Amino acid sequence: MFNIIPYPKEVKADNSRTCSAPYIVNKVISPRYENEAYSIRVTPDEIVLKAGTEKGLFYAEKTFLQMKKQYPDNMPCVHIKDAPDYPYRGYMLDCARHFFTPAEIKKQIDIMALLKLNYFHWHLTEDQGWRIESDIYPNLTVKGSKRKQTAGDGKPVEGYYTKADIKDIVAYCAERHIEVIPEIDLPGHSGAAMAAYPFLSCTGKEMEVEEYYGVSPHVVCAGKETTYEFYFRLLTEVMELFPCKYFHLGGDEAMKANWLDCPDCQNAIKENNLKDEEELQAHFMTRIIRFINENGKTAILWNDALAGGNFEGDFVVQYWQQNRKNSEYAIREAQKGRKIIWSPFFDLYLDYPYGMTPLKKTYKSTPLPEFRDGLLGMEAPLWTEHVETIEKAEYQTYPRLIACAEKTWNERDIRSFTFRLNQFERILDTYAVHYAKDYNPSFVKGKINVVKFFRTAFGRASKEYMKLAGKTRKRIKEKYKL
Ligand code: ACM
Ligand code: ZN
Repeated sequence: MFNIIPYPKEVKADNSRTCSAPYIVNKVISPRYENEAYSIRVTPDEIVLKAGTEKGLFYAEKTFLQMKKQYPDNMPCVHIKDAPDYPYRGYMLDCARHFFTPAEIKKQIDIMALLKLNYFHWHLTEDQGWRIESDIYPNLTVKGSKRKQTAGDGKPVEGYYTKADIKDIVAYCAERHIEVIPEIDLPGHSGAAMAAYPFLSCTGKEMEVEEYYGVSPHVVCAGKETTYEFYFRLLTEVMELFPCKYFHLGGDEAMKANWLDCPDCQNAIKENNLKDEEELQAHFMTRIIRFINENGKTAILWNDALAGGNFEGDFVVQYWQQNRKNSEYAIREAQKGRKIIWSPFFDLYLDYPYGMTPLKKTYKSTPLPEFRDGLLGMEAPLWTEHVETIEKAEYQTYPRLIACAEKTWNERDIRSFTFRLNQFERILDTYAVHYAKDYNPSFVKGKINVVKFFRTAFGRASKEYMKLAGKTRKRIKEKYKL
C-alpha cells in the first residue's frame, strides 16, 4: 500500500519484487501524455518518471517524494498512472486583514506544490489594509497599508508587498507550476483605498483604514467617472505584475448604503436605465471586467456579487455564499455556460473552527449538481480577521487544504484519506508546518471551540455597521416596495 496524497488514479503494485536504494531515476518527456498527466514505473533496476510537460514531470517528482519517504530502502515495484480531475486547484490567503511576509508565503507555496495545487489566490486589498505597491497611487500603501489597531487592542498592523516582492513570489510560484491570481476587491472591501484616496467614495470625506471587522457600508462610488479612471490605471499597473490569465475582482458583500444617497450613483442608475443599485453594481463591474478582458484576462467574481442580472464579459464565478438566492445567481451563470470554482462557506472556509468545519466535512463537500458540467475546480480560502500569525494560519489551513487538494485531484474516501494523512504529516514535519491534530473534535470540544470563535468575532465586529446593514436593507425594501 502506497500512502500518497493526493492518491493517484491508477496504482498497480507488484509486491513480489522491489527496487533497492539508491534509486536510479530517469525522467522522460513523451508526447503521449497530456497536460498535467504523468506516470511512474518502478522496476527492480530503475525508476522512470514520464510526462508530456515539465509540469507533469514536476507532479511525478512530488508523488515519488512521498513514495521515497515511505520506502527509503526497498520500494515495491509499481506502475502509477495519474492525472487530475480538475484544472483549477486553489488556495486563497488573505494578506490584507493580517500581513504575512514573503518568506511565510513561500513556505505555503512549497506545501501547495507538494499537494499539486496550481492556483494561489492572493487577497491583497481590504477595508482593513492595502498590501500592494503602486507607483501611480503611492498613498495606497503610504496611508492604506497601516491600521492603528484592531477593535481597540492597541496593536498596529502594517505592511505591503513591493513590486520586487511580488515579482519574486510570482517567479517562486512559477518554478513550482503555481499561478498567482491577485484580488483587488471592489466596489466593497475598499475602505483602505478610500482612506488613501477619498475621491473614490461617494461623499469624498476623509476616512481612516478600518479598525473593526464586519461588512462595511463604505463602497466606492459607481457614479463618478474618476472612480473608473482610477481603477483602469491601477489595474493596468497590477496586471503587469501577474502573468496569470485570471484576475479576481471580488464583488462580494457590497452594501449599497452610500449609493442610496449619492447623486452621482443615482444619476448613473437613471442614465443607464438600470433598475436598482444591484444593477448599478453589475454595470460598474461589467466596465471593469471588460477592461481586464481587453487586456487578455478573465475575471473571477464571488457569487453574491451577481444579484443584478446584467453582468457581461468574460468571468468565472467563485461560489461561496450558499443561501438560496446567492446559489441561484451562480446557477443562472452556470446555465449560461460560465465556469464555477467551488469554495462553499460551510465546507471549505478555513478560517472557521474545526468544531464548525471538521476535516471530514471538508472532505465530503459535494458541488451542486447544477455545477457539474462547468466546474473548473475548488479552492479553500483562508480569511485572516482572526489569524494574526503564520502558525495560526497553518493550523487553520492544514489538514483541511490537504483534503481539498485530494478532492480536486482524485477524490477517494475520508477513511483512507485520514489513514494516509499520518504519513503526510511526517512530510509536513520536515517543513515545520503547524498543522492541526484535533481536526475532527468531539461534540463538546467542537461546541466550545465554536462558541469561543464567535464570541471573539462578535467582539471585533463593528456594531455601527451591523445596525446600518439592517437599516440599509429596510431602506432598499421601502424604495423598491419589495
Ligand atoms: C467572502 O467571504 N466575503 C468572499
Ligand atoms: Zn456614488
